[in-house]
Amino acid sequence: MDTLVTSLTRLEPVRVAHAAEMLVLLSDPRIYEYLDRHPPASQQELEDRYRRYETTFSPDGTERWLNWIIFPHERSACAGFMQASVNADGTGDFGYILGPAYWGRGLAFDAASAVIRVLHDDFEVTALYATADRRNERSIRLLNRLSFQRIIRNEYPHGEAPESDDVFRLNLP
Ligand SMILES: CC(C)(COP(=O)(O)OP(=O)(O)OC[C@H]1O[C@@H](n2cnc3c(N)ncnc32)[C@H](O)[C@@H]1OP(=O)(O)O)[C@@H](O)C(=O)NCCC(=O)NCCS
Repeated sequence: MDTLVTSLTRLEPVRVAHAAEMLVLLSDPRIYEYLDRHPPASQQELEDRYRRYETTFSPDGTERWLNWIIFPHERSACAGFMQASVNADGTGDFGYILGPAYWGRGLAFDAASAVIRVLHDDFEVTALYATADRRNERSIRLLNRLSFQRIIRNEYPHGEAPESDDVFRLNLP
């Protein structure tokens, strides 16, 4: 996994050393308004998570787990992360979080576009899935801008999507 440089950001493969700064960013409750998850409980917990992510494989070794920390060119501070899991059949799941101070500036679109290109070119992903709470307008606007299409829930191949979420797919032929 390489560092990616986009027009607005630098995307570094996640390392344990990112945990302290990311802990502060991820503690903002506004991030979780539409998410079924919570801020990390401690720096130790986030370091343990990032240590697993550094391997770039799921614990059972069957999936690639790819995580990049986003650094906008304009500031050296981290703005959030991009995340993808990739299955052996060429399908993947995609997720992203930015700190609220960085919303509304096109950073997520810029970073996501670069990650999607790498998923296709280097990891041979042919279909990428994302789920988003129906009320999460920012996330749904981003998915639309990235050309994801809303699909019916039972076409989602990776388990049960949360009841409150819509499911989206991007074909990468
Ligand atoms: C979802 C999330 C990443 C979207 O962030 P975002 O900054 O709105 O996304 P984008 O990068 O696409 O930026 C779009 C905005 O930047 C503006 N923008 C400015 N310059 C732009 C450019 N060059 N290109 C695209 N958009 C640009 C757009 O007009 C748009 O503004 P708007 O929100 O007022 O319509 C962010 O809201 C977030 O992290 N939320 C909390 C976590 C979350 O919900 N994650 C998703 C789980 S499904």
